[in-house]
Amino acid sequence: MSSASRKPWGGRFAEPTDAFVERFTASVHFDRRLARHDITGSIAHARMLGRVGVLDAREVDSIVTGLEQILADIERGDFEWQTALEDVHMNVETALVQRIGDVGKKLHTGRSRNDQVATDIRLWLRDELDAIDGQLHAALQALLQLAEREADTLMPGFTHLQTAQPVTLGHHLLAWFEMLARDRERFADCRRRVNIMPLGAAALAGTSFPIDRVYTAELLGFERPTENSLDSVSDRDFAIEFVAAAALLMTHFSRMSEELVLWSSAQFGFVSLADAWCTGSSIMPQKKNPDVPELLRGKTGRVNGHLVALLTLMKAQPLAYNKDNQEDKEPLFDTVDTVRDSLTAFTGMLPGMTVNTARLREAARAGYATATDLADYLVRKGLPFRDAHEVVGRAVRAAASDERDLADMTLDELRAFSPLIDADIFDVLTLEGSVAARDHLGGTAPRQVRAAVGRARARLDNI
Ligand code: ARG
Repeated sequence: MSSASRKPWGGRFAEPTDAFVERFTASVHFDRRLARHDITGSIAHARMLGRVGVLDAREVDSIVTGLEQILADIERGDFEWQTALEDVHMNVETALVQRIGDVGKKLHTGRSRNDQVATDIRLWLRDELDAIDGQLHAALQALLQLAEREADTLMPGFTHLQTAQPVTLGHHLLAWFEMLARDRERFADCRRRVNIMPLGAAALAGTSFPIDRVYTAELLGFERPTENSLDSVSDRDFAIEFVAAAALLMTHFSRMSEELVLWSSAQFGFVSLADAWCTGSSIMPQKKNPDVPELLRGKTGRVNGHLVALLTLMKAQPLAYNKDNQEDKEPLFDTVDTVRDSLTAFTGMLPGMTVNTARLREAARAGYATATDLADYLVRKGLPFRDAHEVVGRAVRAAASDERDLADMTLDELRAFSPLIDADIFDVLTLEGSVAARDHLGGTAPRQVRAAVGRARARLDNI
C-alpha cells in the first residue's frame, strides 16, 4: 500500500506525500495532547448522529466502545502515534477503523477536522481554565492569610522606589490580592466565550445531514452552539484572549517577583525566602539566590511572546479555516503550562517566607516617611496645605543635614519651623500613628486591612 492511499484523504492523490512535507505539515507530536478531548467530542458527535438517525444504535455502540478503548490505550501509553497520519484526529480515526472495521469510517459523517479541532481546543482549554481557577483561588487565599498575619507590620511604602509614606505589609499584600483577583475575573469571563460549541460547522458551510447541534452541545456541557459556521472554524479569539489574560497574570507575578527579589537582598533585608525555595551559587559560597521569583519574572517574556505570536498568526487570515491555525497550539499549550507552574511556584513560595519586622520598621523610619503627617497636622491647625508643605520641607532639610529623623528633633527645634506645632506632634510623627490615621475604606490602617481581608474572604467564597 502506498503511503498516499493509507491517508484518510488519500483518494485524490496519485503520488505519496513528500517525506519533508509529511513532517512539515504534521502536528501529531504536539496535538496528541488533545486526544482525550478529541475522543470526548467524537463520542458526543456519534451519539448525536444516532439520535437523528444517521447512524443506527449498533453503529453508535460500536463506535463509542472502540473510542473508549482507544482512549484507554492512549492513557496507558500503549498507542502508536504516526506522523504519516498527520494529526491527533486522523490517528484516532484510523485506529478506530482498524479496531472496529468499516463502521468506524462513518464517524466522520457530517463533520470536518476544521470544526473538530476548534471543538477539541475549547474542551481542553475549558478544563485548563477550571484548574487555573482553582489554583488562583489557592493563591488568593494564601495572600489573605499572610495579609491578616501582617496587618500591623510597618514598612516603607514607595513611590519612584523612594520612601514615600509608611504602610502596613498587610496592605501591600492586599494590593497583590487585588491584582490576582482581577486576573481571576478575566479568566472567568474568558471561559464564557470558550464554552461555546463550533461542532457542526463542518469544513466551513455546515453539513447536509440533519444534525442536532443543541443536543451535541448539551452532551459536551457547552453553553450553546456557535451561530455562524464560517466564524466557527476560523475563530481563535478565545485562545488569544486567554493568552492575553495570562500575559497580564504573568505581568503581575513579574512585578511581585521583582519586589521579592529586592526585598530578599542584603540591602533591603525585608524578607527571607525558605532555603528549600532558593538555590546556591557554584562559586560564591555565601549566595542564596531567589531563583523562583526570578524565573517567574523571566517566564513573563515567553507568555507575552505567545500573545504576539497568536495575534500575528490571525491578523491576515481570510475566512474560513486556514492551516495557519495549526500553529495556535504550541503557544497556547506553553502558556497554560507556564501559568500553571507559575501559580504553583507563587503559592508554594509564600508560606515559607519569613518577614524581618524589625528591619522593615527601621527602613520605614529612614526616609522621613511621616513628613506628610506633619504637613497634614499643620493643615488641621489652619495652615494652607502648600504652606505646610513648604514648612515641612525646610524641617526635613534641617534634619537631613545632621542625619536625624523628624521625631528626633526637640519640640523647640520643631517649633522654630512653625509655632503651630505642639507636644502632640510626637504622636503624629510615629509610624504607628501615621498608618492608623489612614483609616478609611482602602487605606493602610491595620483596622482597615483586617476589614479588607474580611471582605476579600467573602468575595473569594462567592466566585
Ligand atoms: N491539525 C489541524 C489543525 O490543527 C486540524 C485541521 C486540519 N484541517 C485541514 N483541512 N487540513 O488545525
